[in-house]
Amino acid sequence: MNAIQSYIKQHKERFINELIDLLKIPSISADSTYRNDVLKTAEAIKKSLEKAGCDAVEICTTDGYPIVYGEKTIGKHLPTVLIYGHYDVQPPDPLDLWKSPPFEPITKATEKHPDGAIFARGACDDKGQLYMHVKALEFMTATNQIPCNVKFMIEGEEEVGSANLATFVKNNHKKLANDVILISDTGMIANDVPSITTGLRGLSYVEVEVTGPNRDLHSGLYGGAVANPINILTKMIASLHDENNHITVPGFYDKVEELSKEERDEMAKAPFNLENYKNALDIDAVYGEKGFTTNERNSIRPTLDVNGIWGGYIGEGAKTVIPSKAFAKISMRLVPHQDWDEVTQLFKTHFESIAPKGVKVKVTPHHGGQGYVTPIDSVGYRAASKAYETTFGKTPIPQRSGGSIPIVALFEKELKSKTILMGFGLDSDAIHSPNEHFGIWNYLKGIETIPWFYKYFTEMFE
Ligand code: BES
Ligand code: MN
Ligand code: MN
Repeated sequence: MNAIQSYIKQHKERFINELIDLLKIPSISADSTYRNDVLKTAEAIKKSLEKAGCDAVEICTTDGYPIVYGEKTIGKHLPTVLIYGHYDVQPPDPLDLWKSPPFEPITKATEKHPDGAIFARGACDDKGQLYMHVKALEFMTATNQIPCNVKFMIEGEEEVGSANLATFVKNNHKKLANDVILISDTGMIANDVPSITTGLRGLSYVEVEVTGPNRDLHSGLYGGAVANPINILTKMIASLHDENNHITVPGFYDKVEELSKEERDEMAKAPFNLENYKNALDIDAVYGEKGFTTNERNSIRPTLDVNGIWGGYIGEGAKTVIPSKAFAKISMRLVPHQDWDEVTQLFKTHFESIAPKGVKVKVTPHHGGQGYVTPIDSVGYRAASKAYETTFGKTPIPQRSGGSIPIVALFEKELKSKTILMGFGLDSDAIHSPNEHFGIWNYLKGIETIPWFYKYFTEMFE
């Protein structure tokens, strides 16, 4: 047993209990009712970094929630690793689908996690994964094995678009200077199939509003004679995909990166079982763009999805009404080279153009960001790969993910450094869903793997 393994064995219970304490604070960034809890979580992260051995930890205020920043400097000639993570979480609703309350963490074994998993909102996304880095730092400082400089930047607004982090990054190039950025906020294929995320999709998120008559109307007196905004909105949304499930917004695919046959063949080698995939979701068929496999559809292809739709009467019983307004929230996942601002504009122009006479349409952009792909021959990737080889006994598979961490593309633009995405969650961990959880094995494996990354990165660096 090596030093990190024995350290984990000795402190395992405390590592789990500390994470459980962090998960008890409902740091929901989207809901201002939880403002004090979000701020309390920032304080808790600050304390944990100090305890783990960071020299200078500060709470940097922004126009939104604060960024917790910490440093551990070993030597000027040594490389610097910047750790990014987020302490905010998604809203837990629908609450009635949780088997145990989202902010009262419990430990339970599952099929994928026979050694137990911690169930709570944020367990995997991202408190559990960011805390692995805090504990890895604790090990390295406690045993005097920290090979390079470390910076931590943990934000509280990732789940709502990181608007203030972008400003912070732009204004703090020097403070944030680094040689590689390391993030654990993604997943891997399976506990016996380690993988490193090499791509993230971009995002454009918009809200649309369709207005018909200036007030809600009696659907008998007016029905059939004026445009019903819900009928119109649903028809407009339906027209956004054609019979092959291609998106119909003109220009939408213009900049989409087409992968070569070799690249697609390489991707197809990653283990994937369609039957298991369908069974896990209780669906009898998958659905998506013609000409692409499931793994391609959710990683290298762009999408357009309605995330929410509302309007009219949804209370108990029936009310015969033609509503004045109908609304929807729509997100588009983008791939490398697509520009989110441009796609947002294309969508707006198209959506306004397809509205029939008799309604008014308003498209309001929310937030977005560019996609990201990281090369597999960089020092950072090679160091990460060797770290997994050391702790998993297998070479990790490079894999593009369908999710988004929009700030990663901005890091590259502003700080000129590559990001390595070492995620230890599983797709079945239910992030953003009821009963989110994080495997205890995964949590501890992450803590074990991270110090090796530091070691190999420092050795391979120049
Ligand atoms: N950690 C996720 C992103 C993720 C998860 C990427 C799993 C790859 C694999 C992140 O917290 C997230 O949820 N991002 C949002 C975008 C954000 C702007 C709200 C997303 O992908 O929807
Ligand atoms: Mn996340
Ligand atoms: Mn998330």
